[in-house]
Amino acid sequence: MTISKYLEIAHRRLTNAGVIDSAWLDAEVLLSFALQRSRPWLLAHHDQQINSVAIQQFNHLTMRRARGEPVAYLTGEREFCGLSFKVNQSALIPRPATEDLVESVTHYFKTEKLKTEKLVIDIGTGSGCIAVTLAKQFPNVKIIATDISRDALAVAQENAERHRVADRITFLHGNLLNPIINHVGNWKLEIGNSRLMVAANLPYVPSSVIAAKPELAHEPARALDGGPDGTEIYQQLFCQLINSITHKLIPLPVSLFFEMEPTILPALLALPEAKRLSRWYTIERQNHVLSLHKNLKRR
Ligand SMILES: C[S@@+](CC[C@H](N)C(=O)[O-])C[C@H]1O[C@@H](n2cnc3c(N)ncnc32)[C@H](O)[C@@H]1O
Repeated sequence: MTISKYLEIAHRRLTNAGVIDSAWLDAEVLLSFALQRSRPWLLAHHDQQINSVAIQQFNHLTMRRARGEPVAYLTGEREFCGLSFKVNQSALIPRPATEDLVESVTHYFKTEKLKTEKLVIDIGTGSGCIAVTLAKQFPNVKIIATDISRDALAVAQENAERHRVADRITFLHGNLLNPIINHVGNWKLEIGNSRLMVAANLPYVPSSVIAAKPELAHEPARALDGGPDGTEIYQQLFCQLINSITHKLIPLPVSLFFEMEPTILPALLALPEAKRLSRWYTIERQNHVLSLHKNLKRR
């Protein structure tokens, strides 16, 4: 049978299983993966026969996809901001919305007048997609990336090595800012005169929404679950930030960038901790990104 025939069969299998919107694309990506060829190659050779090993692998992959496994976990790869990232069940699959977060930080770096050194803290780094992309784009930026999952940190470390930026990213295990605060001495050494920024894409999906979306069941709950109204983990981070700033455990970050679902935003901004942060920061929102910039006038 030819490539196009196999694609048709896979398309039907996926559609019947409820993979409606992306059935063709998924079939093409999985067959490219099984054949170790690009998608354009596949389409240009649609009347070619396939070897039996690739057929077996392709059938196995489409069956797993039909059972709901995300394509990125089947191929072990996901593209983010034009870079290819290793992914597995230990880390969230990078999402397009997070590219907006990276773009906001990038835009800020490019428009900011002061050319001082910068240090970015990426909290909840997961696959490392934010940290690695920023390190790749800005060779003078240093990054500290934290995560509560050691397995996710291992994936992030591999991605940093893959993109040759591991020497500029320090990966720390622990709860939000704690691993940084617990090493205040090292931390002060590390920051020197750099300007501190924070970027975070923390879990913000309300628990009930996760339960109602079986397609999310394959990704780590710890990477998605934001508690009853989606604000739980951000609230913890805001508390830690306020405490660290008031006790001078870390310098006041100049800017903070958070990814957030717009529907969660009212609850997030209503938190007493968010109100407290607004004493120091001007808060702006664009799509999925909440950015806080140091309010110089009021300090
Ligand atoms: C939504 S995922 C984002 C992953 C990655 N930054 C991205 O944008 O694709 C959230 C990440 O935060 C981590 N996380 C959850 N709770 C945390 C906590 N209390 N402290 C540190 N990391 C946490 C999860 O393990 C997960 O890797």
